[in-house]
Amino acid sequence: MRLSLNDQPKNISYLKIAVACDHGGFPLKAEVIEVILKAGHKVIDLGTHSPAPVDYPDFAKAVGEAIQQGRAERAVLLCGSGVGASVAANKMPNVRAGLCHDTYSARQGVEHDDMNVLTLGARIIGPALVPELVQAFLEAVFSQEERHVRRLEKVKWLEKNHRY
Ligand code: RB5
Repeated sequence: MRLSLNDQPKNISYLKIAVACDHGGFPLKAEVIEVILKAGHKVIDLGTHSPAPVDYPDFAKAVGEAIQQGRAERAVLLCGSGVGASVAANKMPNVRAGLCHDTYSARQGVEHDDMNVLTLGARIIGPALVPELVQAFLEAVFSQEERHVRRLEKVKWLEKNHRY
């Protein structure tokens, strides 16, 4: 059964997941949304809403602000390659975006690095990989192991202290 944004979760333990894309990512956005809804989470659809050309930094900004303001716990962000969206999103404090086209990285990026934005390149992967990657990302939890917490603190230090 195809789910839509009308089928939002009724349980209370769901995550709020922002989803956004540019025109390059648009062909896989509906697939991403359906996987998140089927997993029982809430989707915040931040566009784009058509294949018309747009600029990926605008959608990285929308996702980053949703994370920063606590409107979303995590996000999935798509562009054509996944590179531009990832670069742009990682400019925003408190955003840890990873371009993951394999399930090991999609899971481990959360467990070790507390990745909160999964970035995908819709021109690189096909629809069959979307459920695998998005489920791996959503099911993973940051490990809280001392060495990962220590490394994450160093990442946060870099974010705070290396501006010019
Ligand atoms: C848009 O043509 C394309 O450049 C964009 O989607 C993305 O791939 C950038 O990294």
